[in-house]
Amino acid sequence: MPGVQRPAAPARPRTRMVLNAFLYGVGHHTSGWRHPDSAVERVGEIAYLEELAQLAERGGLDAVFLADGQSVNHEYAAGIPWMLEPITALTAMARATRHIGLVSTVSSTFSTPFTAARLLASLDHISGGRVGMNVVTSMFDAEAQNHDMPELPPHAERYARAEEFLAATSALWASWDADAIVADRASGRFLDPAKIRPVGHAGAHFRVAGPLSVPRSPQGRPVIFQAGSSATGRAFAARHAEAIYSVSWDRGQALAYAGDLRERIGQAGRDPGAVGILPGLVTYVGRTRAEALEKKRALDAHLDVPAALAQLTMFTGVEYSAHGLDEPVAPLPPADTFSGPQGRYLTVQRIIETAEPTLRELLGFLAAGGGHATMIGSAEEVADEMEAWFRAGACDGFNLMCPSFPDGLEDVVELVVPILVERGLFRADYEPGETLRERLTPA
Ligand SMILES: Cc1cc2nc3c(=O)[nH]c(=O)nc-3n(C[C@H](O)[C@H](O)[C@H](O)COP(=O)(O)O)c2cc1C
Repeated sequence: MPGVQRPAAPARPRTRMVLNAFLYGVGHHTSGWRHPDSAVERVGEIAYLEELAQLAERGGLDAVFLADGQSVNHEYAAGIPWMLEPITALTAMARATRHIGLVSTVSSTFSTPFTAARLLASLDHISGGRVGMNVVTSMFDAEAQNHDMPELPPHAERYARAEEFLAATSALWASWDADAIVADRASGRFLDPAKIRPVGHAGAHFRVAGPLSVPRSPQGRPVIFQAGSSATGRAFAARHAEAIYSVSWDRGQALAYAGDLRERIGQAGRDPGAVGILPGLVTYVGRTRAEALEKKRALDAHLDVPAALAQLTMFTGVEYSAHGLDEPVAPLPPADTFSGPQGRYLTVQRIIETAEPTLRELLGFLAAGGGHATMIGSAEEVADEMEAWFRAGACDGFNLMCPSFPDGLEDVVELVVPILVERGLFRADYEPGETLRERLTPA
């Protein structure tokens, strides 16, 4: 594809995990905000996000990641995880940190290439090369209705637009050479016009003349993350993603996903070892397993059953309000009968098939992370399980989804990370001046 620069192929396979912190409201447990000790009063405060980014940086994590949604669901009682627009929030967080990567979710369905490219190039400058872009095609009609659309465009159409969005933004990021600014006082020559090129993108969805109005940023372009799980989403990730956020309930599912993606990446002519596959991971960590289980119980105690049922309906399209809470849940129909995001649907399907839960048990599994892997135990036990996934090739690291902040992230940073470092599975320190892309490239 014109304008897209490929990351350099790695010399060696990955020996160390990538660990990103997915910051999300006061935590990934949907009812955690009701806990007496939750940070719910601070959720819209930038100082709160800055402190979380500093905490993640104290643990040497690779990046913080912000999700995004562009509508409010009045019926959904799980709180609002994104009270600040993510690129704006990450810009403040960039100034409050020095090393950690800053990954923003960007909707290719609702963004225009020029505005997105400009914002992210600016943030890459402001942060000294620490930016990532998680390209999503968005999930809800309510979001579309805030953007001049009666409903979301069909899935295939959204991915066609995403493809073009990435082509156009990539061309914009490539429109300035690194040495385009001459700034020679003596000759009066500020720019070298030959080093700033028009883009001339004309496609089905966008027309962009270019060049970008922001000079080339430290990384040239953000590190591209992707989180789609459908066949179309996987093909898109295989062509473009430098790191992939995935949903895997268990190690077997993660292995199958990673195998499929690595094969697709190879078929797309890229090095599968260069793309980090990062499943979401919910952790309950204590000094003992009993303490970890108690942390989970304290959060589950606040589970709001009607809200949890609404979330389940959102994930599956199936109405459960008349279903007995202690009755087993029937298997879901084939995924291709569901028009919403496929990833979550397939995960719920997997939980139902493998755990054969009652409705109440299913809601408990979904309350934190919506079916992402969940590891519960002492720091040693959680580190053991993370190591087992990594060594089995089921992942290249994790997208950490702590059920509550800041305590859940403190547990990872203070208890789990030191064990991983000691085992040589995670970096001990940041390399000064390293960009996010350099850090994520296997070494
Ligand atoms: C870890 C993770 C985070 C995600 N974050 C977002 C998000 O913030 N906003 C969003 O609209 N979709 C998000 N998604 C969903 C998908 O990326 C997105 O809806 C996708 O484009 C739908 O494609 P699919 O049908 O291929 O899954 C996320 C998915 C995962 C696994």
